[in-house]
Amino acid sequence: MMQLFLDTTDTAVLTDLAKTGLVDGVTTNPSLIAKSGRNMLEVIAEICGIVEGPVSAEVAAMDVDGMLAEGRKLAGIAPNVVVKLPLTKAGLIAAGEFSREGISTNVTLCFSATQALMAAKAGATYISPFIGRLDDHGFNGMDLISEIRAIYDNYGFDTEILAASIRSIGHVKEAALAGADCATIPPDVFNGLFKHPLTDKGLEQFTKDWAGTGQSIL
Ligand code: E4P
Repeated sequence: MMQLFLDTTDTAVLTDLAKTGLVDGVTTNPSLIAKSGRNMLEVIAEICGIVEGPVSAEVAAMDVDGMLAEGRKLAGIAPNVVVKLPLTKAGLIAAGEFSREGISTNVTLCFSATQALMAAKAGATYISPFIGRLDDHGFNGMDLISEIRAIYDNYGFDTEILAASIRSIGHVKEAALAGADCATIPPDVFNGLFKHPLTDKGLEQFTKDWAGTGQSIL
């Protein structure tokens, strides 16, 4: 099943959308924590109380020891915390260590297929290719998802492809077609996934015609 995550630190928005039963997890990053204006440990704990699925919390350290210390602290917040690590040499070393410790990881800021190959070899639980940011710089972000899918399938890697930096409903559709295991989606795009103007138009007509019958089902 394709899993849909919300890319947010807005717990009110998350609580509302979680009622749909369609939010499989949450991702955060330092920019989203800054936007919330809240303490990171408190926000992550609150999010973990709202959703049962994976909640990515990103380390701030650049060195392996710092990443391991921060990651272990974040993982201690709740069993569903996924430690998010940057796709650097230090991040991959930390991902390998967390894999051996049984702590889930999300290797982020992936912009190339070889980076994704390295993350899978390191034992990452999730790899996050950033579609929108690649598109912004004149590349085709979706091609990267297809390339990673082919490489992971060639060798049977079980690292999950988490399509990130999603900017549109089209991105979600294309990521699903390209075989991404998950997509992390901003709330406004998530809300748009179940909307269509023809649905609204059709419902308006049905409502009008039904009123004309004067009937009541109950
Ligand atoms: C996901 O892990 C990232 O935090 C997020 O998708 C980045 O999105 P942006 O490029 O819109 O900031």
